[in-house]
Amino acid sequence: MCGIVGYVGKRPAQDLIYKGLARLEYRGYDSAGIAALEKLSNGSFVTRMIKAPGKLKELRALWGQIDFPSSHAIGHTRWATHGEANQANAHPHRAGPITIVHNGIIENHQLIREELAAKGVSFSSDTDSELFGHLVRAERESGKTLLESVRLSFRRIQGASAFVVMDERLPGTIVVVRNGSPLVLGIGEGENFVASDVPAVLESTRNIYYLEDNELAELTSEQVRIYSLDGHERPLNTVEIDWALDAIDKQGYEHYMLKEIFEQPRALTDTLSAWLDLSQGRFRLDAAAVARKSKSDGRTLGHQEIVRAFCEATMVHVVACGTAAHAGYYGQQLIEKLARVPTRAELASEFRYRDPMLRPTDVGLVVSQSGETADTLAAVKLMKQSGMRVFAICNVRDSSIPRECDAVFYTNAGIEVGVASTKAFTTQMALLAVVACAMASHRGTIDAATEKLWVEALGHLPEVARHSLEQSADVEAVAKKYSKKKGYLFLGRGLFFPIALEGALKLKEIAYVHAEGYSAGELKHGPIAMVEPEMLVLALAPEGRGLLHAKTVSNIEEVRARKGTLLSFCAADDNQLKKISDSWIEVPPIGVTELLPILTVLSLQLFAYYVAVERGTEVDQPRNLAKSVTVE
Ligand code: G6P
Repeated sequence: MCGIVGYVGKRPAQDLIYKGLARLEYRGYDSAGIAALEKLSNGSFVTRMIKAPGKLKELRALWGQIDFPSSHAIGHTRWATHGEANQANAHPHRAGPITIVHNGIIENHQLIREELAAKGVSFSSDTDSELFGHLVRAERESGKTLLESVRLSFRRIQGASAFVVMDERLPGTIVVVRNGSPLVLGIGEGENFVASDVPAVLESTRNIYYLEDNELAELTSEQVRIYSLDGHERPLNTVEIDWALDAIDKQGYEHYMLKEIFEQPRALTDTLSAWLDLSQGRFRLDAAAVARKSKSDGRTLGHQEIVRAFCEATMVHVVACGTAAHAGYYGQQLIEKLARVPTRAELASEFRYRDPMLRPTDVGLVVSQSGETADTLAAVKLMKQSGMRVFAICNVRDSSIPRECDAVFYTNAGIEVGVASTKAFTTQMALLAVVACAMASHRGTIDAATEKLWVEALGHLPEVARHSLEQSADVEAVAKKYSKKKGYLFLGRGLFFPIALEGALKLKEIAYVHAEGYSAGELKHGPIAMVEPEMLVLALAPEGRGLLHAKTVSNIEEVRARKGTLLSFCAADDNQLKKISDSWIEVPPIGVTELLPILTVLSLQLFAYYVAVERGTEVDQPRNLAKSVTVE
């Protein structure tokens, strides 16, 4: 939440900051601002600042005010926590010569505000962030260096935060610090960057340093120095990023979300290929599949140790937030069903506060696209404290969650820009299926023939997904037809229940309509009261046969009897379901029916997308949301 960019070098900084912020707008778009240092004719520097509520593009109207050569600037795009999204609360914030941008929350802000007010400080915003600038200013006025002032001020505050600070009396120097909120440093030739995330600097450098919690850095155009919060210098161990730049362009699609929906076959291939030994019909769990982690004092478990943790697991705790939690619910069912180990999936925000019973022999499995979600990260730390092995399924390399875990299984979905998660979700589901099968294989709860069946089906998954996406015109047509309904009820059972939740979430997120995901069996315990022609009921039952399918169909009959409008997601030959539906979308078959939810959700994503387009909402940047939730 909130995007930060800072630059010191020789190029005009304002454009670089603006472009960087554009890459980070997924982190929040309530307001934006840039501060740059301008050199006066007498050789001194002054801070010039532009800020505007709303999206980044609103800043363009103010561009003339910072249109001077400056090679030292910081910028911010905001997701509001303290104080409404107006001009005064937009970052950067100034305290005399000090200017700061902030991502996070100062939990003890009230105490600090009272203390500063008692000393006669007056405030120009309602934000907690501004206070940090005043703390730094006070330290500077008592004669400390900027680095020391930031270090001492940071020790005063509580909560997860990242700050970037500049001082107009120290042109060409930026000091940054973080704990809990992400910051990366981009190391260039005669120029250096700081940002909340790698895409912001990727056009200028691929040489990245991931700032650790409680680390500070001092950046000039020629040098970057890293320090611990107790003042000791640390080595600058950078990594080379090989992400493709085209991943952050729309490539002709109208929205990132649509582009990312259509990227799913490729994303699935990139995620699955390392895990599948197609010639042997076996899952691999070796170094090629399990990624390293970069934390200097950490160590990635070898595959033997992972296998041991899987085999000895007394329970698996799957923990995640939002869309990733829906993938987790799917994974829970598969792990329990295939590996026969008690498994519980839950929301990180609930898990961490309910004092869960955890044993060292339990295994944690956290799921996160960004690797930065505050609640999920806190859940990892809680599980680690109880001596458990904790594994991450994550999309963003070297982000905070993977660095805290014992090993990482990366979804190689590529950079996901659309705020509503799509390709990260299906790759999470696919990888959870792999983990469930690999665990089952090592625990001896599936035989070689079953393992082979799964390996083959997962091998085909990208191709079948491509086939499913070819029906986008059909999905668009039904979405248009039903885009103005009063409400949307997604029904599924078993493995289709998590995607009923996900289908409803997608629609809420981007089309701002009332939608609910329900277990079809629960229909008559409440939601059936809402059924009438203006309520669209979406029935997710593409398996075409089996006990649960028969049960779902009879639940759907109950909808029919009450004149609900019915859109089914079904097998091509499921004439029984088609007969009672007003409309249907076919889901192509695949070797194991447990993978059908992954194929079905592709159509649910398209449905949400086309309903949103029809209703004219902001698909890629829905109101009030942010992609990376780094505050509780
Ligand atoms: C936010 C995003 C969701 C995401 C959730 C968890 O709410 O808008 O798309 O599912 O955070 O994020 P994570 O990065 O941990 O998967």
